[in-house]
Amino acid sequence: MTDASAPALFTWEFAADPYPAYAWLREHAPVHRTTLPSGVEAWLVTRYPDARQALADARLSKNPVHHSERAHAKGKVGIPGERSADLMTHLLNIDPPDHTRLRRLVSKAFTPRRVAEFAPRVTELTNRLIDSFAARGEADLIHEFAFPLPIYAICDLLGVPAEDQDDFRDWAGMMIRHGGGPRGGVARSVKKMRAYLLELIHRKRAQLGDDLISALIRASDHGEHLTENEAAAMAFILLFAGFETTVNLIGNGTYALLRDPGQRRLLQDSVGRGETDLLATAVEELLRYDGPVELATWRFATEPLTIGGRSIGTGDPVLVVLAAADRDPERFAGPDTLDLARRDNPHLGFGHGIHYCLGAPLARLEGQTALATLLTRLPDLQLAVDPEELRWRGGLIMRGLRTLPVSFTAVRDVAN
Ligand code: HEM
Repeated sequence: MTDASAPALFTWEFAADPYPAYAWLREHAPVHRTTLPSGVEAWLVTRYPDARQALADARLSKNPVHHSERAHAKGKVGIPGERSADLMTHLLNIDPPDHTRLRRLVSKAFTPRRVAEFAPRVTELTNRLIDSFAARGEADLIHEFAFPLPIYAICDLLGVPAEDQDDFRDWAGMMIRHGGGPRGGVARSVKKMRAYLLELIHRKRAQLGDDLISALIRASDHGEHLTENEAAAMAFILLFAGFETTVNLIGNGTYALLRDPGQRRLLQDSVGRGETDLLATAVEELLRYDGPVELATWRFATEPLTIGGRSIGTGDPVLVVLAAADRDPERFAGPDTLDLARRDNPHLGFGHGIHYCLGAPLARLEGQTALATLLTRLPDLQLAVDPEELRWRGGLIMRGLRTLPVSFTAVRDVAN
């Protein structure tokens, strides 16, 4: 049953600004059955309370074996190429008790403390990237800044040697460029990445270091360890889940700031005074206002259930629309206004429940460092094109810009 009067979804206009359509759905069809561009039928959940409940509902499985249209959907849900490359056993595809076991093991290695100790390296990377285009007075902030920062950061953290990081950059580039398009190249990149990671894990096992891959190998819980395959799948999902998301946080976040001079000025002044409070709430607000993950990853009903009064059948896919929930006026005052100082902000940008983003501390670190450094070092940064000319990527799960051309005249040197 599809709601006939619902606005068109998944068009180019929708990609440029999906928020009016989401407002309509929240109001008139808060749990809405639709046909996705891939042909798969799915439910969209758009109100905040329903979204939060669905994200934490144990009857909604992450495992695609529960999808009623399995054969039809083969290759249409999940990460392209992951099936063939045997990377399926990652956190976003599994349920308890396997999920509990893997998440406990990875949490012992990927700790907030490890992330905090990584902060100086993120600052260094950020400055190096700005240095690479500073003399030109213009840049494409997606390709020259938002894209390389997370990939180099996660490679460093995992312990991928510097000389191999450009391969990762290429594979990741293939995945982000063709995420919703031709799948052959993506599948090949995923395979190469997996082969590389397995070999790296092998080498690290022989000589453990301080890096995250070594920590994953070392991690044990009641005598249990990750298998090599599980460690490879874990490294892969850290890369995959932490890459395009962070690109979009930096891209969407900078774009939102450049479009709102008042809010941008507030943040720039605050950062200039060396304060961190507004910077912290600003990143949370940017995650709420125009977050990187538009729809949470796939969930499938393992039994009949009701969400927002609608009956969901066994095997039906359910997509929680984080971008819609985070603008629900029933939960957020003035939801369409960017308010960097917003305090009451329990946004769902990092999800909710047992699959809550494992990389949130790293994402916050990268987002805060990137925005603060950009505003400090390029104080008159501005958009170099009309916003109408900007194009958004057409993928289903993520929301992000293809390019973000900017210009500036002043460049400040790195402080200290
Ligand atoms: C899960 C968002 C960055 C690793 C998630 C989920 C969301 C999310 C919404 C839950 C998906 C669901 O329930 O369907 C984001 C955003 C990021 C970001 C907005 C950047 C701004 C990162 C980073 C890493 C990471 C940097 C790691 C390096 C993960 C992992 C999961 C996850 C491993 C799966 C957790 C589980 O299933 O237990 N993320 N993420 N994310 N994220 Fe992030």
